[in-house]
Amino acid sequence: MIPNKKTSIVFLIALLPIAACLTRCLYQSKAQDPRGRAYAGSASCMQCHKDVYSSYLHTAHMQTSKPAGSETVHGSFAAGQNTFDFGTGQKMVMEKRDSGLYQTGYVNGRQIETERFDIAIGGIKAETYLYWKGNKLFELPMSYFKSLHGWTNSPGYAKGIINFDRPIVTRCLECHTSYIYALPQQSAIRQQPEFEKNSLIYGIDCERCHGPAAQHVEFHLANPAEKKTHFMVSYKSLTRDQKLNTCAVCHSGNRDQFEISTFNFKPGDTLENFKVHDYFPQKLNLADLDVHGNQNGLLSASKCFLMSNMDCMTCHNAHNTDRGNLAMYSQKCINCHNAANHNACTQKMGAATKTNCIDCHMPEQASGAIAVQTATERNTTPYQVRTHRIAVYPEQPQKIMDYLKNIK
Ligand code: HEC
Ligand code: HEC
Ligand code: HEC
Ligand code: HEC
Ligand code: HEC
Ligand code: HEC
Ligand code: HEC
Repeated sequence: MIPNKKTSIVFLIALLPIAACLTRCLYQSKAQDPRGRAYAGSASCMQCHKDVYSSYLHTAHMQTSKPAGSETVHGSFAAGQNTFDFGTGQKMVMEKRDSGLYQTGYVNGRQIETERFDIAIGGIKAETYLYWKGNKLFELPMSYFKSLHGWTNSPGYAKGIINFDRPIVTRCLECHTSYIYALPQQSAIRQQPEFEKNSLIYGIDCERCHGPAAQHVEFHLANPAEKKTHFMVSYKSLTRDQKLNTCAVCHSGNRDQFEISTFNFKPGDTLENFKVHDYFPQKLNLADLDVHGNQNGLLSASKCFLMSNMDCMTCHNAHNTDRGNLAMYSQKCINCHNAANHNACTQKMGAATKTNCIDCHMPEQASGAIAVQTATERNTTPYQVRTHRIAVYPEQPQKIMDYLKNIK
């Protein structure tokens, strides 16, 4: 039979799924990394950058998202501590079952919904959890707050009501994971995104900050004697704005709208080019900058920043966990504000100030964007973040008194 045009088209269409599967399988055996062949995956960095790698594994960046399980979920599942009663006839219970950890909602004793903890986000001060429903992600109603040592309703949720329906959009994952593939939308109307589950890369990995590195890895594996860097953007070669942008991608707040996903951002790129322009035509006031997630905006409004060449790395080492080491951070201040500057506070407070400039000049402040409800008190507990607007805070007298008491 001589195939006519119609039958050959039908035949070709019938072949399509097989072809798609073949390219896909080939693609997957070659490139392990869901971002494509240009990426090598963090594990490959270990062989040559062992110290950076092992220090990095413990950072909040690397740990910011992970599969939820007994080791990664810090709230208690013990009887008596695993219940959150809204006091409205609605109640949440956290349970361990053979198939995983679950949050179950009850209204007047009747079970209304039960969903599994699939992904854990955070873990330093607060932890929130996501669950899969098909290819969509949702936030679970209960989060864990370290300062309360217990479960609370998830940030921003209405008081007293169980809510399993909050969708997780790509933006959330752009800041808290290295990558996920969002499936193309079927309709022109914006809908809740659907994701390809297996493409998720947990944590913020090496290549999320340094850009695709497969060529770098390939070159140095082939040329082990070469000590000069090849095929890798050097941070030192970047302008100040480019340096700031590598952090501002995730540390300049939640208000901007992006037309290009920041998953594509590489060091050397300009963040402005990823944004929808003039989404907020008016410049924000200082008071609009929330401490949560906007370190870039707040720092930029500080005299220290405006009158020096500082960037985030002046004080931070992206591969280390330095939280709590206020003496180390204070040394960074002293590097610029040395005794010769004779500033008023060091003269007044003497040597004691040397180990902690931070509590007075970068105090913790309550986020206006995040607050949670506690089970016992019906009021809300704020989420505290250190402000990056370095300044004199005369409204901090209690902090200063506490501080002086502690150092005697
Ligand atoms: C086969 C060895 C090898 C592997 C694997 C490797 N690198 Fe490198 N890398 C080097 C060498 C050699 C240098 C240059 C000397 C140095 O700075 O350590 C370098 C330098 C760098 C620099 C510094 C760039 C600069 O000039 O400031 C970065 C960043 C970097 N690598 C990132 C990575 C990342 C991310 C990975 C994993 C995806 C990786 N490397 C995997 C060998 C390797
Ligand atoms: C891909 C997004 C992303 C990028 C890029 C990024 N951060 Fe972060 N950063 C986060 C998130 C999310 C957290 C909160 C992690 C958590 O506690 O779960 C965080 C936390 C931090 C912390 C607190 C660490 C701790 O121990 O609690 C510091 C400091 C920080 N980032 C500095 C930087 C600097 C400096 C850069 C640029 C070199 C940078 N970040 C780039 C997303 C990012
Ligand atoms: C949060 C962003 C971020 C992540 C994640 C990150 N780095 Fe870096 N890395 C930086 C920055 C910024 C610098 C430049 C530091 C400087 O010059 O002050 C740097 C410098 C380096 C350097 C050269 C200087 C040095 O410290 O040795 C290497 C090598 C490197 N990174 C490798 C890695 C590897 C490997 C990983 C993953 C295990 C990784 N980085 C994860 C931001 C990051
Ligand atoms: C623009 C980037 C950005 C977006 C979008 C974002 N976050 Fe964050 N998130 C951060 C940064 C940065 C921090 C840590 C420092 C801070 O609070 O300023 C953080 C902190 C957190 C923490 C506390 C982490 C800890 O270790 O204590 C949780 C939980 C969290 N975010 C969940 C979410 C969820 C869920 C979403 C989406 C619905 C989301 N975030 C969207 C950047 C972002
Ligand atoms: C890279 C250098 C540099 C670093 C690091 C630095 N500063 Fe500054 N800071 C300056 C400069 C320059 C000024 C403006 C001139 C002045 O007042 O000395 C300033 C101003 C200040 C002011 C006065 C602010 C105002 O609004 O009047 C305070 C307070 C201050 N710095 C505290 C700190 C603290 C605390 C740290 C560490 C967390 C720090 N600085 C780190 C350079 C720096
Ligand atoms: C002058 C020094 C300095 C500079 C510059 C600086 N930071 Fe910080 N940062 C600190 C100190 C001090 C802390 C508090 C550490 C602690 O509590 O142990 C901190 C904490 C943080 C935290 C955790 C906040 C919290 O309360 O959970 C994040 C996130 C962060 N910095 C990001 C950044 C980013 C992004 C930049 C650049 C835009 C930056 N920092 C620039 C000194 C600095
Ligand atoms: C106990 C709280 C406290 C501590 C700790 C502290 N400061 Fe201050 N600082 C102040 C106050 C209050 C002022 C305003 C003083 C005034 O106007 O008389 C000030 C002013 C300043 C200024 C403004 C310039 C000036 O000379 O007036 C700088 C810079 C500064 N401090 C840097 C630092 C550095 C660096 C450290 C750590 C070595 C530090 N401070 C520790 C409370 C503190």
